[in-house]
Amino acid sequence: MNYTVVLPAAGSGKRMKANKNKLLLELFDKPIFLYTLEVFQQDPACEAIWLAVKEEERQIIDQYVTKYKITKVHGYADGGMERQDSVRACLEAIPPCGVVLVHDAARPFISQDVITRLVETAKACGAAIAAVPVKDTIKKADNGIITETVDRNALWMVQTPQAFTYELILKAAKAAVEDGFLGTDEAMLVERLNHPVQIVESTYENVKMTTPEDLIYGKAILESQIQEGQR
Ligand code: C5P
Repeated sequence: MNYTVVLPAAGSGKRMKANKNKLLLELFDKPIFLYTLEVFQQDPACEAIWLAVKEEERQIIDQYVTKYKITKVHGYADGGMERQDSVRACLEAIPPCGVVLVHDAARPFISQDVITRLVETAKACGAAIAAVPVKDTIKKADNGIITETVDRNALWMVQTPQAFTYELILKAAKAAVEDGFLGTDEAMLVERLNHPVQIVESTYENVKMTTPEDLIYGKAILESQIQEGQR
């Protein structure tokens, strides 16, 4: 089952303390976002890649795309103030298609198997998201005093990719902007339409490069993927 992937890449480096877009930081010899792009370039089911980028970074990003022969990049949309705005700009720019995958450019270690299962599930159910079971005990607290220990058997840590049928995610994105609703992922926009969202179990390797220590984990994951012949 073929799909189009939308990659928001227009963030800043605030939590990374990078003074620039963290996606341009290098892991070994390459900027982070290229590792993400290469996963989709190599997936035969990926028909097109669309990126949301900051206007002032479009040229540098496009130069990397050309240099690393990422031929599936079909276009760019202007990134917005919030991640949700960046994703919506891409969704409005892409031609109608079957399944759309939304994936943070800052998550370079996504596995091919998870992508395939997400696309199949979205085709069958309309909406599917990658997530992993919570490992730690989770508690709620008020002013530092525990009020509740949450049953972690029901808890999932949600990641991207998140996969949807094109009509559903476009409708959800438009409804959110009309209602002034800001979510932290695309699934929330679909949930508010009362459409079920199916979890697809992902891997703990699919971390987002967010804070400086993530670069240390990132290098270790990359090394193990190279050793296992996945890169
Ligand atoms: O900041 P965070 O790591 O949560 O961002 C997740 C992804 O969304 C990153 O790939 C980032 O570049 C992108 N983003 C965006 N537009 C924004 C904020 C974040 O495209 N306004």
